[in-house]
Amino acid sequence: MLVFESVLIVAVFMVAVSIVFSSIKVGISPMPSSKKAYQAMIALAAETGVGPIYDLGSGWGSLVIRLAIKYPERQIVGYELSMFPWLITKIIKRALGLHNLTVYREDFLKADLSAASVITCYLFPAAMEAIKSKLDLGKGSLRFIISNNFALPSHQASKVVRLNDFYKSPVYLYRLSLLKTQV
Ligand SMILES: C[S@@+](CC[C@H](N)C(=O)[O-])C[C@H]1O[C@@H](n2cnc3c(N)ncnc32)[C@H](O)[C@@H]1O
Repeated sequence: MLVFESVLIVAVFMVAVSIVFSSIKVGISPMPSSKKAYQAMIALAAETGVGPIYDLGSGWGSLVIRLAIKYPERQIVGYELSMFPWLITKIIKRALGLHNLTVYREDFLKADLSAASVITCYLFPAAMEAIKSKLDLGKGSLRFIISNNFALPSHQASKVVRLNDFYKSPVYLYRLSLLKTQV
C-alpha cells in the first residue's frame, strides 16, 4: 500500500510541476473556460458556418471536446503546449471516438493555421496581440474569431455576449469580413 501511495504522490507532484513550468513558459495556466463561457462560445460557433474550428490553447480539452460532440460535421483542432492537459484531451478523444477532433502538442504561434475558418481562444492580452500579428486577418480561409474575455486589440467585435456572472464577462465574436480597425 505504501508503494502505491508513494507512486501516486510522485505522479501528482510531477503533473503539478509540469503544469507550473508550462504555465510560466506560455504565460497562462490551463484553466478552462467557465460553463457559461463555453456555452456562449459553442452557441456563437453556430453562427460561423461549417468550416474547421481551431482552439488556440485547448487546455484540458473542455471546449474542443464539447465542440466536437456538438458539431460532428466540422473539423475541430486544438493546439496545446502543456503536456498533461494535452494528454488528457487525447485520452478523452479516444475514449469518446471523436474522429473529427485533432489535438496537437504544438505552439500555435508556430503552427500553420491557414485551414482554420474559426479561431476560438481564452488567452490573455499579450497573446491576443501575438495572434493578431500572426493571423492574416481578412485573408485566407479564416472568417471568425471567438474570444472568451479578451478582446482582439484595435478591432471592433461584431457581437459581444455578456455572461450572466459576477463580472458580466464578455465573449467576443469577430466577423473578419466586417473587421474594422479602430483608430
Ligand atoms: C486558459 S487556457 C484555455 C483552455 C481552453 N481553450 C478553454 O477555453 O477552456 C489557455 C491555454 O493556452 C495554452 N497556451 C498558451 N499559449 C500557448 C501557445 N503559444 N501554444 C499552445 N498552447 C498555448 C496554455 O497552456 C493553456 O492551457
